[in-house]
Parts: sequence; C-alpha cells; structure tokens
Amino acid sequence: MRQISKASGPLRGEITAEADKSISHRAVIFSALARGESVIRNFLLAADTLSSFSCMQQLGVDITREGSLLRVKGPGIDGLQEPVDVLNCGNSGTTMRLLTGLLSARPFFSVLSGDASLNNRPMKRIKNPLSSMGAQITARSQGNFPPLAVNGRNLNGIDYSLPVASAQVKSALLLAALTADGETTITEPHKSRDHTERMLGAMGAQIKQEGLEIKLCPGKDLTPQDFIVPGDISSAAFFMVAAAAVPGSELIIKGVGINPTRSGIIDVLIQMGGNIKIENQQVISGEPVADLIVSGSELKAVEISGDIIPRLIDELPVIAVAMAAASGTSIVHDAQELRVKETDRIKAITSELLKMGVNAEAIEDGFIIEGRSSTIKGAQVNSHGDHRIAMSLAVAALLAEGETSISNPQAVDISFPGFWQELDRLSR
Ligand code: S3P
Repeated sequence: MRQISKASGPLRGEITAEADKSISHRAVIFSALARGESVIRNFLLAADTLSSFSCMQQLGVDITREGSLLRVKGPGIDGLQEPVDVLNCGNSGTTMRLLTGLLSARPFFSVLSGDASLNNRPMKRIKNPLSSMGAQITARSQGNFPPLAVNGRNLNGIDYSLPVASAQVKSALLLAALTADGETTITEPHKSRDHTERMLGAMGAQIKQEGLEIKLCPGKDLTPQDFIVPGDISSAAFFMVAAAAVPGSELIIKGVGINPTRSGIIDVLIQMGGNIKIENQQVISGEPVADLIVSGSELKAVEISGDIIPRLIDELPVIAVAMAAASGTSIVHDAQELRVKETDRIKAITSELLKMGVNAEAIEDGFIIEGRSSTIKGAQVNSHGDHRIAMSLAVAALLAEGETSISNPQAVDISFPGFWQELDRLSR
C-alpha cells in the first residue's frame, strides 16, 4: 500500500527520463543476432527488460553488466542455443512476442511462459501469421494463450496485413523473416512504433519502410553496435501530466525519446492547452531525443481517435487523469487494444477514477471523462498489478483533495523502479 497526498505546491526542477523499455528489449535481443560484441548504454534495469536479458542468456548468449551498461557477445543468429528450461517472460508481452517470432525460425524446441497476466494475453495474433510462414507453435486454449511451445524450423517469407496496429506483432514477424526463404512484406492499418525497423536497418538488415508498408529481404549479416538507449516518453508521461495539470509547475525532463510513432502525448497535451517546449533536439542511436519543458496550465477537454491512438497507446491511462483535471467532457475512441494490455486498462482506469469521484465511463473502445466538475478526491484505489495503472493513479492522487492509498504499488518495478522515489522528490 502506498499513501499519497495532494501535491503541496507546483512541481519544479529537473529529471532525467527513465530508459526506454521498448528500445532496451530490442537492443538486448537484436545484439545477440549479430556476430561480435555490442555495447548497450543506459539499458533499462526493470523487471520487463530483465526478462528479455535472462531469456537471451538462456539461449546461450554471453552478457555482462556493469550498472546499466551491457556487453553482449553476439553469437550470431545461427549461434543461438536450445534453452534447457522454459523461457520465463514474466509480465513482458514484448519479450514473449518478439522471442516467439525469432525462435520459430531457429532449429530447436523452446517453450515460453509468463506470469498470470501474460499467460492470459492473446497470442493468436502472432501464432496465425507465423504459422502462415510455416512455423509450428502450439499453445493453451485453442492456441491463443501461453505457455507457447515452438518447434523451430525453416520459414517462408509472407505478405501480411496486420488487422490491428501492433509493434510486437510486426517485430515478431520481422525477426522470423530475417532468415526466411523469400521477402516479407507487412502492412499496418496505422503506424505503430518503428524501433525494430530503425534498429535492424542500422545493423545492416535489408529493410525498407514506405508509409504503412515494411519490406524485409533476408540473408544479410547483422553488425554489432554501440547503442545508447534514450529516455522513455511512456515513463516521462506521468511527470508530463502531473506538471501540466498542477498550476505554477515547471519541470524539465531531459533526454526523452520523441520518435514520432511514440509522441502522441505531446500533441494531445498541447491540444488540451498544455504548455510544452521541446529543446536540445538530437538523434541518438538512430532515435530522435529532446529535453521537454512542461509548465502547468488550465487544461481543457479533448476528443481523440484514429491514427493518433497507436502513437500514445501506453499513455492513455495517464491521459485519462489529465482529462479528469481538464474542464469539459473528453472522449477516447478506437483504443480497444487497451483491453488486452497487462490488464484491461479501460476497465481499470475508469473504475479506479470513479472511486476518486471522477465521472469516468468505460465504453467498448475507450472512455468518456467529465473533467473538473467533479473534483478529484483521495480514495483507496487498486493498481490491478499493472505498472501504468499504478503510476497514473499516483498522478491522480497528486491532484486529489485528501489522501489516496494505492494497493500493489510495487507494480511500477515492471518499467520504472525508481518511480516512487522520483515522485516523492518532485512533489515535496
Ligand atoms: C510495445 C508495443 C505496444 C506497447 C507495449 C510495447 C513494443 O504493444 O503497448 O507496451 O515494445 O513493441 P502492441 O504491440 O501490443 O501494440
């Protein structure tokens, strides 16, 4: 249980954004596919990315760690070894889906499992297209839920249109395509995060992005890299919303990844009347990075749907909190993917905000939030064991009258282990 009171005043100061989770996963997995030593600086040391780290070790990859610096001695894609035990992906959908794609094309048997949340997340979305490439995957519950058993073998390229925008599915297919017979073409309904395309391209893969289409020609050797992981906009988002909603705040968040496939929250907060300056823009390891200066202002309601949704999918729970603090009625549509994240995030965030006196209504593909008219009140709320719900409720607590207790606060360890400390420091 964690107790949080209303922020005693504006949030001021400087923080460095926690390292990016999506990029850390990819850096440790992809490094192993190149022959030779890669260095990863600012690797995210959190439960999810450590799941990828230990699964790669189980596949025979030699990884050493000094603080947040990893040295990965890549054996090359052909050098991965059959794991002698189940690969435990913990809570991490990215680990499970990316590794299933990769291992479908390796000449050995592997089993992937996770915690109670992950073992209830849908896997047909990867199993179906991978099976069309020739993969042999079996899974619980008519093939939809983990554990997954993979009988790796030679695959064929595929021409596939994703029914939903998903970087995890896209990345699973691209990893399977690296050694397939023939070219692979993937088309997305909306653009999802493109870290895989950028990273594989930088490592020498023959990969081309054109609009919503990605083409990969197999057979190129990947080269080791020196990666620097930027800050995670999804972790920065909690402080962005807190600073934007508490009048008088001015927070500098340094080193935030602002890849356009991830930066929807900046656009939405600006549309809500938020004050965000983007400074010191640079490109680090192929990813755009900047410092964000967020100051407090009166927020107003907004309606969001369509193309922008994949650009802010992980930020929607905390955007719901910004909506609760804004004047007017906000609506989110086209976000049904939130129902199959670590929890059903539509249900989780609306039910918890309701406990805090916010008029929040779940709808099939999103939510409706009446802001301000109902002042946010402290309450006993539940993180549902979901890191992003825990941190979103913490931001709501800073804006609420009275005290809030959040159960299961250690859920933040999945992506941002230092969150509570940072929150204490900034809100004091
Ligand atoms: C991720 C992709 C997204 C996102 C998740 C991380 C990734 O999931 O929600 O937190 O690193 O590829 P989907 O691929 O299911 O959209």
